[in-house]
Parts: sequence; C-alpha cells; structure tokens
Amino acid sequence: MSRRPSAAAILALLALTGCPRLDPMQRQLKYKAYQENRLAPDGLAMLQPPAGTVPYGPPLDPVVATGLGPDGKPVAVMPFAPDARMLARGRVRFDTNCAACHGVLGDGESQVALNMSLRRPPSLHLYRELPDGYIFQIITMGFGLMPSYRHLTVDDRWAVVAYVRALQLSQHVTVGRVPPEVRRRLEQEGR
Ligand code: HEC
Repeated sequence: MSRRPSAAAILALLALTGCPRLDPMQRQLKYKAYQENRLAPDGLAMLQPPAGTVPYGPPLDPVVATGLGPDGKPVAVMPFAPDARMLARGRVRFDTNCAACHGVLGDGESQVALNMSLRRPPSLHLYRELPDGYIFQIITMGFGLMPSYRHLTVDDRWAVVAYVRALQLSQHVTVGRVPPEVRRRLEQEGR
C-alpha cells in the first residue's frame, strides 16, 4: 500500500507553517507590571529600585519630556522635525487613543461625542493656533473630562501631536498647496 499523505494532512501542515511564530518569552509564565507578588516585600511584582540608585541612561531633554520651554510656557514648535515614520506612528496612536472621542478626522464627529450632552470632545480643528507643546501637555495631563494619556511613551505623544497637525492641515489646505500628483488626482475626481 502506498503511503501517500492525505489532503487533510497536507492542509494541516500548510496551516502550521503559516502560523505566526510566537516568541516563547511572550508565552512563558511570568509576573506582569502591577501584579501581586507575595514574595516581594511590598507584595508587588514591580520591585522598587534600591534606595540611592539613579535611573541608567541619558536624562530626557526637559523640553522633550514636558513640552514646556525654559520659561515654563508650552513650546510653539515640537522639538522634532516630524517625518513620515513619526506621522504613521502618530496615526496609529491617534486612531487607537483619541479617535473614539475626537473622531478619525479629529473633527469631533464620534459616537462618544453624539452621546455626551455636556462638554463634548471638541473638534481639534479649533486648536490650530495653539502651540505644539500645549497639545503635548493636554495629552500628558488630560483636560477636564478628558483623561490623561501619560501611559503613551513620550515619543508616541509627540507623534500624536504631529498627526493632529497633519489632520488640521488636511482639512484646511488650499488646492494650490497640495503636491502636483495629488492635485491631478483631485482634479480628475472633480470631473
Ligand atoms: C474619552 C474621550 C476622549 C478621548 C479618548 C480623548 N479626548 Fe481629548 N477631550 C475630550 C473632552 C471631553 C474634551 C473637553 C474636556 C472638557 O472641556 O472638560 C477634550 C479636550 C481636548 C483638547 C482641547 C483642550 C482645550 O484646551 O480645550 C485637546 C487638544 C484634546 N482633547 C486632544 C486629545 C488627544 C490628542 C487625544 C488622544 C491622545 C484625546 N484628546 C483623547 C475627550 C477625549
């Protein structure tokens, strides 16, 4: 009898090779931040650094870390020149963390806004004149009914600021300022 593998076995093998290969460290048993650990002196998995130790690594530039200049006021322009990668990152972070309330276009059109009668999440297009550092501060500290998004890394918070600027520009740009290939497409669409 020939021992040919059945179609089902081949399919099963193919499915296996298509599986994402998980790093075993992602799956292994381990403590996660904020979990309880009865062996630790304070019962928390996250151990406190021993007294007198200092964080390792260069300290962050205070403007980058806070969005505030040496005069304590929000900086007008962010301390990075945003590139395409930063904007793409900002878009992912914005869509995940801000769009539910402020809308994917940042125009305040969202299900949450529709269901809030008092102090709805505003359109972010009203804040075109505000300094970049101010928006960074709002993300970091929260504002009124809006919670803080301090859990986003500093880089991600600036990336969101850059993306908010891109959204604002996208809704207030004149046709004359868009790149020629985009203008051609817009003109074709308009026909
Ligand atoms: C849970 C809903 C919610 C989410 C999510 C949210 N916001 Fe807000 N945001 C609000 C509300 C509500 C206000 C108005 C708060 C008030 O007036 O009390 C606001 C206000 C603001 C303002 C205006 C502050 C001012 O000076 O008036 C900015 C800028 C802003 N949000 C940016 C963001 C960004 C960027 C994100 C994502 C990191 C975000 N928000 C996520 C609800 C939200």
